[in-house]
Amino acid sequence: MTHIKDLFKLDNQIALVTGGGRGLGFFSAEGLAEAGADVAICGRDIHGKLEDAVEKLKKIGSNSISIKCDITKEDDVKQMANIMKDHYGKCDILVNNAGISDMAQSKTYSLERWNSIISTNITGTFLCCREIGKMMIRQKNGCIINFSSENGQVGFSSGMTAYATSKIGVIGLSRSLAVEWGKHNIRVNAILPGNMEEGMMEFLQDKNGPMYKMIGIPLLNLIPMKRFGKGDDIKGTIVFLASKAGSYISGAKIVVDGGFTINAGI
Ligand SMILES: NC(=O)c1ccc[n+]([C@@H]2O[C@H](COP(=O)([O-])OP(=O)(O)OC[C@H]3O[C@@H](n4cnc5c(N)ncnc54)[C@H](OP(=O)(O)O)[C@@H]3O)[C@@H](O)[C@H]2O)c1
Repeated sequence: MTHIKDLFKLDNQIALVTGGGRGLGFFSAEGLAEAGADVAICGRDIHGKLEDAVEKLKKIGSNSISIKCDITKEDDVKQMANIMKDHYGKCDILVNNAGISDMAQSKTYSLERWNSIISTNITGTFLCCREIGKMMIRQKNGCIINFSSENGQVGFSSGMTAYATSKIGVIGLSRSLAVEWGKHNIRVNAILPGNMEEGMMEFLQDKNGPMYKMIGIPLLNLIPMKRFGKGDDIKGTIVFLASKAGSYISGAKIVVDGGFTINAGI
């Protein structure tokens, strides 16, 4: 029998977090590092935050590296998998956090915008699963956590069709891989964050801002717990899923939304 504290430890584990330089990706990377893993992070680095994030992870004690990678580009993803193999020799945990969002009404939504969302959120996630998954199959172990969203459960009238389609696709991708790769001792799960006051919804922190009044207040009214999600809510869930504590969970949708998506609203 394992002591409960040891079930959550990630010593000697190697992790890769896509989009780990900021937002929910950084919280995920920080949680994994604090639990004992060595964590690599990747991104296009368009905000120049990747190196700062690596320095923060190193201070926790993680042997961290940053990898420049656009997950929509097959060659970039193949190169990233090679870097993981050369630097660490393995990858035990893959967190597919990188993603983009968009909001516009469907009747005028351009094919270009549609393709951009799908190629990042679904195709990019698939490419990372495939390339890192090959290593995991050889290792005969692995844990993949894919970022879906509350939008993979519910619709919004504000115009989130492409994003919602992509995020429900991530659930299908996760379930399918969980079934295909279970025999290789690889677990695949989807995390569905709700309205987090971090990352792409950081504007929720500004209670006097126009976006808070327009979107924040109506959303808050629909969250039974009456608060937005925070970085710690993501960190805890990621470490739970990645650790031995989650070792029999595969193909699951883990909803982290304070009850938002099960609220009938009356
Ligand atoms: N925040 C929320 O409330 C919320 C709710 C539900 C789900 N989510 C999901 O959680 C994940 C993280 O969101 P966030 O709020 O932290 O967003 P964010 O702050 O905008 O961060 C997105 C991350 O993805 C990376 N990225 C985007 N396109 C990429 C590409 N083509 N190749 C490599 N990296 C790419 C970005 O790095 P670069 O720009 O440097 O490439 C960045 O690190 C997303 O999948 C999002 O859909 C967020």
